Amino acid sequence: MNKELQKIISDLEDRLSNKRFRHSVGVMYTAASLAMRYGIDINKACTAGILHDYAKELSDEKLMDICKKDDVIITDYEKEKPYLLHGKAAACLVKNKYDIDDEEVLSAIAHHTVGKVRMTPLEAIIFIADYIEPNRKMIPGLTEIRRESFNDYNKACGMILENVIKYINEIADDEIDEDSRITFEYYKRYL
Ligand SMILES: [Fe+2]
Ligand SMILES: [Fe+2]
Repeated sequence: MNKELQKIISDLEDRLSNKRFRHSVGVMYTAASLAMRYGIDINKACTAGILHDYAKELSDEKLMDICKKDDVIITDYEKEKPYLLHGKAAACLVKNKYDIDDEEVLSAIAHHTVGKVRMTPLEAIIFIADYIEPNRKMIPGLTEIRRESFNDYNKACGMILENVIKYINEIADDEIDEDSRITFEYYKRYL
């Protein structure tokens, strides 16, 4: 682990609640393991993994402000549910704070929340690691998704999206947004 990454980890320990810090470390190591499996740059995976929830504990107003200041496109659904912007806001903040100019790392952070169509391998493994890291509480389907994550990451993305949509429809009794529907339509082909 390089010095920069060590500094980021110790900053995050101060910045985030204990629970969120533990989750972030879990995502970092899970992303590193997936990176080893798929031949992805491990340092990039660790950096995106540890930083993905950098903005998660900020208020809705703050998240909107950060994104507006950086000219980030905010969808109508995100305006309704600003917490969904914590990935995009984190990418804006860490770009300046840690001089991260790797667009793929920033994009993996920005899109970890709901994923997107045609994710790059790095984007996909961050999306997956967020869902499967060891501190996550056991939910139906998680064991199969964890196993599939190390076999076919595109299929694992499809399984996660399917699970999330099922949860939103059946348990939260809410409707999914248009972007998530399009993303799932794309990943369905891998199921
Ligand atoms: Fe998140
Ligand atoms: Fe997370």
